[in-house]
Amino acid sequence: MSRTYSIAVIPGDGIGPEVVREGLRVLERVASIEGLDVRLTRYPFGAEHYLGTKEVLPDSAFEEIREHSAILLGAIGDPRIQVGFLEFGIIARLRFGLDLYVNLRPVKLYAEHLCPLKGKRPEEVDFVVVRENTEDAYAGMFGYFKRGTPDEIATQEILFTRKGTERVIRYAFELARRRARARKLTLVDKANAVRAMDLWTRTFEEVGAEFPDIARDHAYIDAATMWCVKNPEWFDTVVTSNMFGDILTDLAAMVQGGLGIAASGNIHPGRVSLFEPIHGSAPKYAGRNVANPLAAIMAVQMMLDYLGEPRAAARIEEAVAGLLRSKRVPSLGSDSGLGTSQVGDLVIGELERVQVPV
Ligand code: IPM
Ligand code: MG
Repeated sequence: MSRTYSIAVIPGDGIGPEVVREGLRVLERVASIEGLDVRLTRYPFGAEHYLGTKEVLPDSAFEEIREHSAILLGAIGDPRIQVGFLEFGIIARLRFGLDLYVNLRPVKLYAEHLCPLKGKRPEEVDFVVVRENTEDAYAGMFGYFKRGTPDEIATQEILFTRKGTERVIRYAFELARRRARARKLTLVDKANAVRAMDLWTRTFEEVGAEFPDIARDHAYIDAATMWCVKNPEWFDTVVTSNMFGDILTDLAAMVQGGLGIAASGNIHPGRVSLFEPIHGSAPKYAGRNVANPLAAIMAVQMMLDYLGEPRAAARIEEAVAGLLRSKRVPSLGSDSGLGTSQVGDLVIGELERVQVPV
C-alpha cells in the first residue's frame, strides 16, 4: 500500500519558482522510487499575484493549505512592493497562523572545500539551530508617534511568553537527545543586555532539569557569532530566539557552504509544517537558470523526514552530499558553471544509485 501525502506548493517570487521546480522534480522521482503517492496543490501567492489581483493570502486559501500534509515554499519578496508587506502577509501569516513555533535550521558541511573557514572538516561543522518562530520582535507590535516630524518616536516590542519559550526549549532538548551526538544544548541569548531574556535563562534551567543526560551550555549572541566562525565544532544543538536565530543562521549557512545549500523547516510537531530554503527571492538572478536549487531540494529532504519517510529523505541527502563531495556540483550558484536545471538533473541521476538503509 502506498503512503499518500498532499503537499501545498507556494513557489513565490524571484528565484522561488525555478528552485521549487527542481525540488518538485526530485520529490517526484524519489516518490516513485520509494513508492509514495504525492499529490501537489499549487498556489500562486506572491508579488505577481498580488499586483494582478490585490490578493495576498486569502482566508479561504489559508484554510485549504492547512489541510495538507505539508507545505513547500520557494521565496517571498519583490522590489516592486513595499518592504515587509508580502513577507508578513504570507511567510509570517503561515508561521503565526499555523503556530509553527520551531524554525529548524541544520548546519552541516558536506565537503571540506565548501567551507570558507580554513581547515574545518565536515565532522567539525555539524550542528542544528532551533530558532523560535512565533514571537520576539516578529510579533509585529510596532508603532509610530509624530511620524515624519523631528520628534518622531518609533517603537517595536520584543515579546517573549513563558509558553512560547518553554515549548521551543523543550523541543531543542528532545532534539539534542535524538541526535545522540554531543548531547549538548547551547542557549544563545542576550540576557546581559535584554533583561527580558531572563525568562529564557530560567526556563532553560527548569526544562533542562528534565534532561539530565543533556549538558547545558550558554553563549551570548555576539559571542556565538564569533564561535560560529572560530570554533563551529563547539555547537551541537542550539536554541535561540526568533531574531537572533534569523541572524545566526545566515552566518551559519555560509559556514556550511552558502545560502545555496541551506534549508529550513517551520514546524509544529504533529501538525502541518512548512519547508523552505533559507535564502530569499534574489530578484536579480530570477529567470536566469543560475540559482542553486540545492537549498530547495534539501527543503524537500527535510519535509520527507518530517513526514516520516526517512529512507526517501536519506536518498536525497546522500545524492546531494555525494555530488558535493565529488565536486560534480563544484561550487555554488552562478559561479559553478552549472544551471539550476542541470543541478536538478544531477541530483535526480544520483537518487537511484545511492545506498540507503533498508
Ligand atoms: C528568514 C527570512 C525571514 C525572516 C524574512 C524574509 C522575513 O530572513 O526566513 O530567515 O526574517 O524570518
Ligand atoms: Mg533570515
